[in-house]
Amino acid sequence: MLTQCRMCGSADLHAYLDLGATPLADAFVKQPDIAEPYFPLAVQYCAECSLSQLTVVVDPRLMFGDYCYRSSISGPFRDHCRGLVQACADRLGTVKAALAVDIASNDGCLLSAFREAGSRVLGVEPARNIARIAEEGGIPTVSRFWCREVAEAIRRDTGPARVITGTNVFAHVDDVGDFVESVAALLDDTGIFVLEFPHMVDLVRHSEFDTIYHEHLSYFLLRPLVRLFERYAMTIFDVEKVAIHGGSLRVFAKKTSHTALPVRDSVQAILAEEETLGFYRLATYHRFADRVATVRRSLTDFFTEIVAAKKTVVGYGATAKGNTLLNCCRIGPEHLAMIIDETPQKQGLFTPGRNIPIRGREALEGAAFDYMLILAWNYKDAIMRKTEAFRRRGGKYIIPIPEVTVL
Ligand code: TMP
Ligand code: ZN
Repeated sequence: MLTQCRMCGSADLHAYLDLGATPLADAFVKQPDIAEPYFPLAVQYCAECSLSQLTVVVDPRLMFGDYCYRSSISGPFRDHCRGLVQACADRLGTVKAALAVDIASNDGCLLSAFREAGSRVLGVEPARNIARIAEEGGIPTVSRFWCREVAEAIRRDTGPARVITGTNVFAHVDDVGDFVESVAALLDDTGIFVLEFPHMVDLVRHSEFDTIYHEHLSYFLLRPLVRLFERYAMTIFDVEKVAIHGGSLRVFAKKTSHTALPVRDSVQAILAEEETLGFYRLATYHRFADRVATVRRSLTDFFTEIVAAKKTVVGYGATAKGNTLLNCCRIGPEHLAMIIDETPQKQGLFTPGRNIPIRGREALEGAAFDYMLILAWNYKDAIMRKTEAFRRRGGKYIIPIPEVTVL
């Protein structure tokens, strides 16, 4: 049980959302009906710095030692990465010949985009199976968890980095201070650090409760981050909203000593938005928890009716968030025949908890399902485009978030 806020150390923590106990969201299993470990899944709010965080921390080696998530499988994410490289080039003048280090570089998706732009690249990725795929694709990768020792070793071997990036990794980190301090240790004095994470404002406004799972220890607002960076002599100088993963922030930081880069108005604008919308008040989160209860109930009811009407459903996207959704709403193989996912590492496995089989796209050929539940709703447009044949045969899409919608 976490008794102190990981961002500010306060003990003024208030649990507001309890999703029950679930298995780890990316712990796909080789066969159904084997005993799986369950862990409590609940979120608490720090009244001091307003960070939302899970009440427990699962050993990261259990979650990230051998990983099945591949960032380059999703086409829209590959496009997003090219946009991120351009955003760095805009702020640095150029990224050509610059050393770009990506933390939790996965299969090298973002670094491939940096390489195309002429940067020198280096990945840091603890999952050995995924780091190997990056290496095979020509992206040099250190297979370690990000820490001070790794940052210093890279600096010794390659010199400081002009760009350090971390997309969808910061929520995974327990010791956030060590993470930022290690970034400062490797960053060039005039370099930039770019951090992307889902914004708590979007999570709450669009009821994205399924993005809550054990890998995500923290649910960020900008405010607690500004203070954290200050502690390590770094300054957030710009913030952009990006549409990826249900609505994220892209935060740009620099060393505070690098005064030539001005702090843009965007920082104050996002802070003001968070405050105006009530994100620094506990009551907002209690209201969110009430809404989540309603969404969960209506999803469960919807699937009960579908089964009663003898309709068939296939899932698309064997996502971690899908597993929160399926487990929390008790949607199982009796509702969902299978889930399609193009990640080779996931095919042939079963989802944690509900044990729904995962198949490649070829399993859709010749099959006639009435509905397709899009579990990767963040990529719904891309998925609907590539499943045109399903729609032409009269199939309908179910989008579960922010509320059940049939298209
Ligand atoms: P994410 O929403 O957590 O990024 O996961 C997306 C999952 O959906 C990932 O397992 C890859 C899968 N996927 C496909 O199989 N085909 C697609 O076209 C897209 C966009 C995603
Ligand atoms: Zn706090």
